[in-house]
Amino acid sequence: MGNILRSRDKPLLNENSPLIGSEAKSKLKWFNLRNVLLFITLLLCILIILYGVFLIIFNKPTKTPTSRLISVATINNDYFDKCSPPVTCDPKAKYRTVNGSCNNLLNPNWGAALTPFYRYMDPVFSDGISVFRVQSDGSPLPNARTLTLTMFQDTLKICDHQNNELLVPWGQFITHDVAFSPVRSVNSSFPAALDHCEDKNPPIECEAVIRLSPDDPVYGKKNLTILKFMRLITAPAYNCTLVPATVLNTNTHYIDSSNVYGSDSDVANELRLFSGGQLLYNTIGKQEYCPQDPTKVVKKGNQTQVTIAFLAGDVNVNQNLGIALFQNLFLRFHNYLANKLQAEHPSWTDETIYQETRRIVAAVTQIITYDSFLPIILGEKYINEYGLNDETNYDPTLIASMAQEMTSGAFRLLHNIIPAQFNYMSENYTTYEVEEPSKSFLRPDTLIGNVDGFIRGLTETPGREPQPSYNNLISNIVIELPTINTTGFDLLSYDIQRGRDVGLPPYTKIRSLCGLPQAKSFDDLSDYIPSEKINQLKQFYSTVDDIDYYVGILLEDKVTGSMFGPTGSCVIADSFYRFRNGDRFFYDVKDQPGSFTSDQIQSLKKITLSHIICATSEIERIQKDTFRLIDHIRLMKLKPKCETYTINLSAW
Ligand code: HEM
Ligand SMILES: *[C@@H]1O[C@H](CO)[C@@H](O)[C@H](O)[C@H]1NC(C)=O
Ligand SMILES: *[C@@H]1O[C@H](CO)[C@@H](O)[C@H](O)[C@H]1NC(C)=O
Ligand SMILES: *[C@@H]1O[C@H](CO)[C@@H](O)[C@H](O)[C@H]1NC(C)=O
Ligand SMILES: *[C@@H]1O[C@H](CO)[C@@H](O)[C@H](O)[C@H]1NC(C)=O
Ligand SMILES: *[C@@H]1O[C@H](CO)[C@@H](O)[C@H](O)[C@H]1NC(C)=O
Ligand SMILES: *[C@@H]1O[C@H](CO)[C@@H](O)[C@H](O)[C@H]1NC(C)=O
Ligand SMILES: *[C@@H]1O[C@H](CO)[C@@H](O)[C@H](O)[C@H]1NC(C)=O
Ligand SMILES: *[C@@H]1O[C@H](CO)[C@@H](O)[C@H](O)[C@H]1NC(C)=O
Repeated sequence: MGNILRSRDKPLLNENSPLIGSEAKSKLKWFNLRNVLLFITLLLCILIILYGVFLIIFNKPTKTPTSRLISVATINNDYFDKCSPPVTCDPKAKYRTVNGSCNNLLNPNWGAALTPFYRYMDPVFSDGISVFRVQSDGSPLPNARTLTLTMFQDTLKICDHQNNELLVPWGQFITHDVAFSPVRSVNSSFPAALDHCEDKNPPIECEAVIRLSPDDPVYGKKNLTILKFMRLITAPAYNCTLVPATVLNTNTHYIDSSNVYGSDSDVANELRLFSGGQLLYNTIGKQEYCPQDPTKVVKKGNQTQVTIAFLAGDVNVNQNLGIALFQNLFLRFHNYLANKLQAEHPSWTDETIYQETRRIVAAVTQIITYDSFLPIILGEKYINEYGLNDETNYDPTLIASMAQEMTSGAFRLLHNIIPAQFNYMSENYTTYEVEEPSKSFLRPDTLIGNVDGFIRGLTETPGREPQPSYNNLISNIVIELPTINTTGFDLLSYDIQRGRDVGLPPYTKIRSLCGLPQAKSFDDLSDYIPSEKINQLKQFYSTVDDIDYYVGILLEDKVTGSMFGPTGSCVIADSFYRFRNGDRFFYDVKDQPGSFTSDQIQSLKKITLSHIICATSEIERIQKDTFRLIDHIRLMKLKPKCETYTINLSAW
């Protein structure tokens, strides 16, 4: 220490320095401490350079992310300690199990279907078990529909001219790969019990319904008094008593295409043809579609009445036209690849072709998500800070499970880019039909015969600019089906209410966890929330610490390059860090029985969503950056012909 201080007395490099001074003089002063220091520094530099060269030659340096969201929850092990079933794993298995077990060999149940969502923070319930959080002054949280109507009105109507509408179905497709929280499908959300919420002793199903005011601008006119919101199923339904209330994910948590193949073996087998490695399909007008759900085929006398309803690995396949389109494209993509592998390897069994194809489909889904999708929604800053496009550094201590704060909070922010309409376009790129997403819930009928038209429309229509509102049609859904009395739902109100249902901690707590300065008063939020919105928050919440997480993140200004503010981005970025680095079967993990060869990885990295669209449809041209908006009529030259999007499986 003293030496270093003393050496400062004189300039570091003078004529006495062995580096530049005369030999004689430097020899005399050779043992001068300053010179020894210089020598050591030089030696260190050389060593560091040599080490660097060594790393480059023998071993790619493993980058570590500069940011991570560190969980402070105390309950993440409870399920695994108390309830998880015993499993035996084959550590040499080349393919993923159907339900995701045995991915992590030390904790074989991690990330499996029917295990809980991960928590960054412990849940907050007013009774510590399951009752909705209340405000600091003891009053209930503000009515979710009132918040939507006063704070989140769709007035801007701005289009995002850089990206097209394909971002929406892709975002939802990925969501359905990594999560399904049961009891929320539109059908099962409206059981008869919910017609009795105004009775003297309303049934338990009514506990979380959203009350409507008679002068509600949409539902008031329909004489609706409630939105039929129901709580999620919790662990006791699976014979596992956990406190506080814990929701189990019905799908596998990994990005493994479980939405295509299923998350349990009965479903997986039901979806297979068991010939040529193919998935079961339904041919309608010479085109392949997902198989028809047999429960939706009704016999009336001698007539068979078919309601179009697809079967796929995820039960929400029919929810809207966009997700139905992608489930069908991926069914076709699987069968396209399976045919190709069968042709190139006539000796392969059905099982080998099915599993190899499944492995490729999952890898391609990961590649599209990390290489094309995340850079658009999260932006460069978060991609770099969280190392999302670094080579995967498999970490067996990392749990890859979907987080509750993500699935019931941050990742839903993309609901704000759902378009108000879906356009169908003909070969000459004129719109021939317009579908409102809200009018085709659970009714994907118009997809039949219109797959190409729908792809053209999604590719050609600008997306909605992320903003603190949803489009009017998605926050004012009215459902009128012959089988169901008129009802409706407001997706934004549902998203706010869902956060309360699963006990998400309030906004300020997660904001601090994400590294923002602690907000002690409403006005401390002004770094990311506009002042007029802060004033509104003051009217609804008794203190700054009562604000719902979802309300806060929807209001935050976007971080440059990201579609979200900092408290949403950090949860999304860290989740995608864990999906990647906590997955032993991630496509570029090395030295595992399921690893791809480097030739195979090279071929996989070339496959984009445009390749998939060209392999599964009859469209003529598409841009290389599938999510970018490119005007077909004026800039057709920027859209290569489909023949040029070849998929090369010669490395298999
Ligand atoms: C037309 C497009 C879409 C519609 C109609 C839609 C509708 C819905 C509905 C009705 C729910 C259940 C709400 C509840 O009861 O809690 C939901 C959940 C969810 N949505 Fe969307 N969504 C769409 C697109 C997206 C997109 C683009 C994303 C994100 C990238 C997304 C992310 C989520 C997530 C994470 C959940 C919770 C999943 C779970 O835990 O089961 N959705 N969505
Ligand atoms: C996953 O599947 C395995 C094998 O079928 C089974 O033993 C295990 O119980 C399942 N895991 C969970 C969490 O249900
Ligand atoms: C969906 O709702 C209809 C009408 O209430 C009912 O007949 C049908 O059984 C329900 N389907 C499921 C899977 O719950
Ligand atoms: C709503 O209720 C009022 C008064 O009972 C009635 O006049 C009106 O027709 C109802 N509207 C609908 C859409 O049912
Ligand atoms: C829960 O336990 C009961 C009694 O042991 C059993 O009948 C039931 O099938 C179990 N349910 C599940 C989902 O495992
Ligand atoms: C079905 O039955 C009706 C009379 O019940 C008959 O008129 C009709 O021809 C039958 N259709 C077919 C396809 O058999
Ligand atoms: C474009 O296609 C539509 C429907 O296919 C057709 O009605 C229209 O005439 C076509 N327009 C041109 C300019 O070809
Ligand atoms: C519709 O509502 C009426 C009155 O509340 C009820 O009697 C009827 O059963 C309901 N119908 C359906 C299909 O739920
Ligand atoms: C396919 O890829 C292999 C390398 O994996 C290469 O040798 C071959 O030329 C490629 N074929 C075509 C048609 O591009």
